[in-house]
Amino acid sequence: MTITSPETASADIGVYGMGVMGSNLARNLARNGYRTAVTNRSPGRTLRLMDQHGDGSEGIFIPSETTEDFVKSLEKPRVAIIMVQAGEATDWVIEQLADHMDEGDIIVDCGNSLFTDTIRREKWVRERGMHFVGAGVSGGEEGALWGPSIMPGGTEESYKRLGPMFETISAHVDGEPCCTHVGADGAGHFVKMVHNGIEYADMQVIAEAYDVLRRGMGATPSELADIFDEWNAGELNSYLIEITAQVLRHKDASTGEPLVDMIVDQASQKGTGKWTVQTALDLAVPVTAIAEATFARGASSQTTQREAAQHMEGHAQELKVEQADHDSFVEDVRRALFASKIIAYSQGFDEIAQGAHAYNWTIDKGSVARIWRAGCIIRATFLSDIGQAYDEDPDLPLLMAAEPFASRIEECIPSLRKIVALAATHGIPTPVFSSCLAYFDTVRADRLPAALIQGQRDFFGAHTYRRVDREGTFHTRWADEGKPEEQWD
Ligand code: 6PG
Repeated sequence: MTITSPETASADIGVYGMGVMGSNLARNLARNGYRTAVTNRSPGRTLRLMDQHGDGSEGIFIPSETTEDFVKSLEKPRVAIIMVQAGEATDWVIEQLADHMDEGDIIVDCGNSLFTDTIRREKWVRERGMHFVGAGVSGGEEGALWGPSIMPGGTEESYKRLGPMFETISAHVDGEPCCTHVGADGAGHFVKMVHNGIEYADMQVIAEAYDVLRRGMGATPSELADIFDEWNAGELNSYLIEITAQVLRHKDASTGEPLVDMIVDQASQKGTGKWTVQTALDLAVPVTAIAEATFARGASSQTTQREAAQHMEGHAQELKVEQADHDSFVEDVRRALFASKIIAYSQGFDEIAQGAHAYNWTIDKGSVARIWRAGCIIRATFLSDIGQAYDEDPDLPLLMAAEPFASRIEECIPSLRKIVALAATHGIPTPVFSSCLAYFDTVRADRLPAALIQGQRDFFGAHTYRRVDREGTFHTRWADEGKPEEQWD
């Protein structure tokens, strides 16, 4: 097949970038009745899509070889989605599109772009009279094809044109689309970034639960798969628990061993978890579960350091839970997992709240929770409760302290303590379980040793402190006789 020049204004929407995600998004649009223009930097991938799916059975695709033709094929105001590798490629495509597009047209970046890049790009495109929408898209390849969760930023005006199409192709829960206008400029990509950070914490804490269970019970991966399946039928119901069971049950075709035992134990990352943590540091939001999960991936991949530490004695006992105690042990791990999950999500929503404040976005956190109920990687039943909690009080200071989470955490925290203690004495690394417990104990403490740190800071650097009994800023002259205190303001 060859690509001929398309008819002007013959497409409702276009997708630039025919990798798997771009092709699947285009197929989803076409299947939903939108005439979809498609193109790619090199035409081979466009041709492949047309060869495989261009027979009309999936809907109408309008292929182009050049950016000029692609833009020409779009009906005005034009909507062009970019689905390319986040980074320089995105800037390159934006420039190409902007060269051929007109005032009022809309460029949409559906890649995993850093939200500060999106803020910069939005300004650049806006100054040229067009709209730029950074849209987070979650759900992987299958989600893109059958219904992702979509988190678009950008202007209200651009959402009027784009929103109905995105809402149609997104996942749905009880007829409600998993897509909402998140906020201005980079808000959509910011929320997607935090989604991924939560994804890291959720995956790590599930992995820790698996590790503790496996070592404690000496169970096989497929026996553990049954436990995860059971958990998936209850309050832990979520995509990540569901796929955990599937991964654990899977046998390696070449050896017959559980596949999980044949996979190198080094977790990779593409950077979105790292961004969530870097941004959290800038915003001073303690997303400790996400940070520990990100560092845990890094530590797993530090082969040299891991080798260097192999010979070190850990003084750890071997964990062996008696058969008779297996049920209560499994229940403790389940509760520890649920408590940690609530804490990790609570931290993520805290970051969204602080980000919205810092960047002047109006983000409806209840809606964010609702559009994560299906389509995305962190989809979970308990997101309905999160949505409701934020609907009841959009300014919740701390999600985990609101009902129904506060009660659930209180019920589960004894199990989290037990599991963290057990892991510590038995030498099992549980960075996210442990940090969730430490965070819980930090935020609920009525007095923290931070007071001592303020004293130390004042001692060596005259950094001052505030007093519990009087307003003002104080400094003690530590080097002077009698250590007199001064009030500085
Ligand atoms: C999603 C995923 C998706 C992708 C990430 C994770 O929401 O569909 O989060 O964006 O899987 O890139 O990547 P890493 O684990 O490689 O960082």
